[in-house]
Amino acid sequence: MSYFSYKNDILHAENVALDAIAQQFGSPTYVYSKAALTANFSAYADACRQHSPAPDSSLICYSVKSNSNLAVLQLLSRLGSGFDIVSGGELLRVIAAGGDPRKVIFSGVGKSREEMRLALSHDILCFNVESIPELHRLNEAAAAMGKRAAISLRVNPNVDAKTHPYISTGLKENKFGVAYEDALACYRTAAVLPHIEVAGIDCHIGSQLLDDAPLLEALDKLIDLVDQLASEGIHLHHLDIGGGIGITYDDEKPVAIGSYLGRLFARIDAWRQDKYQGAPIKVLFEPGRSIVGNAGILLTEIQYLKHSEAKNFAIVDAAMNDLMRPAMYEAWHGVQTVARRNSAEQVYDVVGPVCESGDWLARSRPLAVEAGDLLALMSAGAYGMTMSSNYNTRGRAAEVMVDGEQVHLIRQRENPADLFALESLLA
Ligand code: LLP
Repeated sequence: MSYFSYKNDILHAENVALDAIAQQFGSPTYVYSKAALTANFSAYADACRQHSPAPDSSLICYSVKSNSNLAVLQLLSRLGSGFDIVSGGELLRVIAAGGDPRKVIFSGVGKSREEMRLALSHDILCFNVESIPELHRLNEAAAAMGKRAAISLRVNPNVDAKTHPYISTGLKENKFGVAYEDALACYRTAAVLPHIEVAGIDCHIGSQLLDDAPLLEALDKLIDLVDQLASEGIHLHHLDIGGGIGITYDDEKPVAIGSYLGRLFARIDAWRQDKYQGAPIKVLFEPGRSIVGNAGILLTEIQYLKHSEAKNFAIVDAAMNDLMRPAMYEAWHGVQTVARRNSAEQVYDVVGPVCESGDWLARSRPLAVEAGDLLALMSAGAYGMTMSSNYNTRGRAAEVMVDGEQVHLIRQRENPADLFALESLLA
């Protein structure tokens, strides 16, 4: 079900017309649907309850990098979410949003000492460690604070996620995790470090996966490792399968969350029963895109129409600095006119004002539009605002969250003067 739909030929977010939002908050503006966010999170939560009913036997750790607005984090935290973070800054956001640091896992290949100290001081659930030097640094940081750091090793299962090479992370040539073949030796090292507590195992093989077969293949490889570790007396409390489930941008048909979790828990249960007589190993997930991606759009206004011999351009007030994905991955986002026109369509490239040929948001789209019309760039809730920049000294867009008939401003538009407030002139 889409929470963005036409009513009387005007595109709405839930029950609010998008032209009214542009009028009140200006353009460009990211618009999120609270009902969509809630439904997407609930797809995970319901499947966990159904397939893994034992208390505390699963945890959904929303991947903050996909959309880190405080109101989004607050909503998910209230729904019971934990969080997957990749920086000290993201931890501070989670805390500012009312999230529970004890439900936070910390991923990433380059954690600094300062970030480790911050996370240790808040007693986060687990560090997803990605290398031996990181393990030693964490051991030292924990020792200096008189603590023990709970860790998972992020294992690289060498599984092909069959997605865009920039967002595939589980192959040997990727910088992420420790190689599958080295994992046992790494665990042995971790097990004897006095300020490290071995808690789990983790992997994340890529993003925008449409099929769950690579994830189930990775799961099998993790399970084999857990068994080998157990035979050496290293017992793990949790298994973290990462995020990665894709969404529909165009006509993709991603696996349904419920079916994926059903298959995953069936596999885990068979193993738990076989080897551990049902002893619950907790299962963690790190979804991002599948929770926020289709819950947000980027609203933008056409400034000019430009017709050249080769092409027609719709020049809008949003740009690559607001939505990087097309320029960076040639990503496809649907374009919908906010008000439907009956005039004939022409084929347009939708481009922004930034001085780069790569500044395009959509190519070759049939649109019936005039200057001044509003467009919605669809499925922009994930990796939209979080990847935005101030290139060309453009203030970042406003963000609003719609809840039924109500609209909440959840981030003010950046004022250009704010953009150079931290800079200084020479004496
Ligand atoms: N866990 C880890 C360790 C990750 O690196 C990521 C995403 C996730 C979880 C969440 O994955 P998701 O469920 O969202 O697929 N900027 C790119 C996507 C980069 C993904 C990075 N890692 C894009 O716009 O497509």
